[in-house]
Amino acid sequence: MQIIKTVSEMRAFINGVRAQNKTVGLVPTMGYFHQGHLSLMENAKRQCDVVVTSIYVNPLQFGPKEDLASYPRDLQRDTEMAKTVGVDAIFTPEDKEMYPGGFDTTVVMGETLTNKLCGSRRPGHFTGVATVVIKLFNIAQPDRAYFGQKDAQQVLVINRMVQDLNINVEVVSVPIVRENDGLAMSSRNIYLTPAQRRVAPILYQSLLQAKEEVEKGQRDATFIYSIVADKIKSEPLAEVDYVELYSYPDLKSIGTLKEKALLAVAVKFGGARLIDNIILEA
Ligand code: PAF
Repeated sequence: MQIIKTVSEMRAFINGVRAQNKTVGLVPTMGYFHQGHLSLMENAKRQCDVVVTSIYVNPLQFGPKEDLASYPRDLQRDTEMAKTVGVDAIFTPEDKEMYPGGFDTTVVMGETLTNKLCGSRRPGHFTGVATVVIKLFNIAQPDRAYFGQKDAQQVLVINRMVQDLNINVEVVSVPIVRENDGLAMSSRNIYLTPAQRRVAPILYQSLLQAKEEVEKGQRDATFIYSIVADKIKSEPLAEVDYVELYSYPDLKSIGTLKEKALLAVAVKFGGARLIDNIILEA
């Protein structure tokens, strides 16, 4: 497995792959791998000849008071884990390689998909995501790119960008991988204290409770929302950042559940902010 640090080395690697008529799968990540990342890589491995994963904690997508400095980083550990699933190359650039002096172009998404959920709580976040993702696409020129469904809004935003800008990449969304107690895997779970970790599965439990009500026939959006919000508020260590329900995949406000909907939560446990979601079907 190759560790590649510069855009020019990455281009040379991809040119070599293309010369052999092989397909490329890209798994963009911010590192500190867990089973969720490995599942993205395994999916890429099944569908593409060569798999590249990028590890880059992208400063552009963090707000001034967010966890850019403390975001966990461990390239050695990530390299070992990526090897176990047969990744061919890791692209891990420095900031100056991605955003050299004079850098002045960003991809600004319209508000249809970004003025809600994480987009409204993290101003500028999706500009940062869209910009780095289009850069990674241009650098690695993948046939397919793999993203986790835990960041459901991110997947929709990237799909929109790919469609709107005619980017020749197939976006593949991969199901959420969970711990045995239901907590969605996330690099940020490391921030949780043991007490917070014990209660963190409440995110998924609240979503499942709402799903059960929908399966019994509940269709009222306010009622569904309140099941989730009340359950999370019952836990003193948890602070609701948002509970939101939208039609899926167009993220329109709904009063009554019809067809598919995205029920998504963001919850703070002290300084740790975790997100989770579920797709409901009427
Ligand atoms: O989901 C992530 O880890 C990041 O948002 C991504 C897609 C790698 C862009 O920095």
